[in-house]
Amino acid sequence: MKAKIIGTGSCIPAKVVTNDDLSKIVETSDEWIRERTGIRERRVTDAATATSDLALVAAEKALANAKVSAAEIELIIVCTCSPDTLFPSVACILQDKLKATNASAFDLSSACAGFNFGLAVASSLIEAGRHKTILLVGADTLTKYLDWTDRGTCILFGDAAGAVVLKADQDSGVIGNFWKAEGNLRNSLVMPGGGSRDPENKNGRFIRMDGKEVFKFAVRALETSIIEVLKATSCSFDDVNLLIPHQANIRIIDHVIKKMGLPKEKVYVNLQKYGNTSAASVPLALDEAATEGRLKRGDLVILSGFGAGLTYGANAVIW
Ligand code: ACO
Repeated sequence: MKAKIIGTGSCIPAKVVTNDDLSKIVETSDEWIRERTGIRERRVTDAATATSDLALVAAEKALANAKVSAAEIELIIVCTCSPDTLFPSVACILQDKLKATNASAFDLSSACAGFNFGLAVASSLIEAGRHKTILLVGADTLTKYLDWTDRGTCILFGDAAGAVVLKADQDSGVIGNFWKAEGNLRNSLVMPGGGSRDPENKNGRFIRMDGKEVFKFAVRALETSIIEVLKATSCSFDDVNLLIPHQANIRIIDHVIKKMGLPKEKVYVNLQKYGNTSAASVPLALDEAATEGRLKRGDLVILSGFGAGLTYGANAVIW
């Protein structure tokens, strides 16, 4: 049995923050941000909206798209590093709000690689026969953890949620996964405050990042994850119909596809509209690609993510 993606959904907050808006807050410009990242604008939640609110809308859309009722869900996994509270999990909040009373639920924390790790876990559970129907969500509101005086980070991130419904299927679905962690590099991307090391946020509750180090890692991670997941499936890039990479920075994507000789038409990019939405990045792009008709039945799709930890992973999916 394979884990087939039978429905997708997503949610973006209404508020748009453009590069010009940011240039009024920090010393930057639309030109600099576009040239160095490819980002033109991003979506930002209001103070009253938490991660579970975005996750709920994305999940409802994915369930409607899949024509699956909440009662059919056996497991909910929410991939997030910005939960509403340390506990309960966003997945449990979602279980209650969806009235998915037959489901178990937990959160998975792997920052921007979260959705790829979540898909690896969910597909393994389906392949093992443990579950037949799983709701998998990637949702983050990292703009709530940005230092709006730090131009090295505040220009990069946006908020969103993306969801998929997975169902056991004999023919199509996830055919390979790759995942890896490099905890020795963990200090290059950190949220120091709020955890048990610093519950009172003495070290700040904002994202701190060594952009150059993360960039070098990201280029290596994206390339390695594509090579490794293709190796796991005995496929070559010629077989791939669409690559959906983590939407962090167009220079990371361009660098890798140029080095690997991958055609641009096979790569999905929407970061210009949303920036880096962390665990939502890949499922949001997948939902848009599916809605735009970029995916046909039988297509081979590669999903790749990298993020804090540092972590990286990829999934190969027959659509
Ligand atoms: N506007 C204008 N100038 C800026 C800005 C800005 N927003 N940010 C930095 N600069 C300046 C710097 O101060 C520096 O000036 P100097 O030469 O006078 O010292 C100059 O621009 C170049 O700075 P760099 O840091 O070398 O810029 P770089 O080209 O590396 O781009 C960036 C910075 C965009 C952050 C890049 O390093 C990057 O994208 N890194 C990867 C980040 C990433 O993808 N993180 C997410 C990981 S996923 C997750 O899990 C969260």
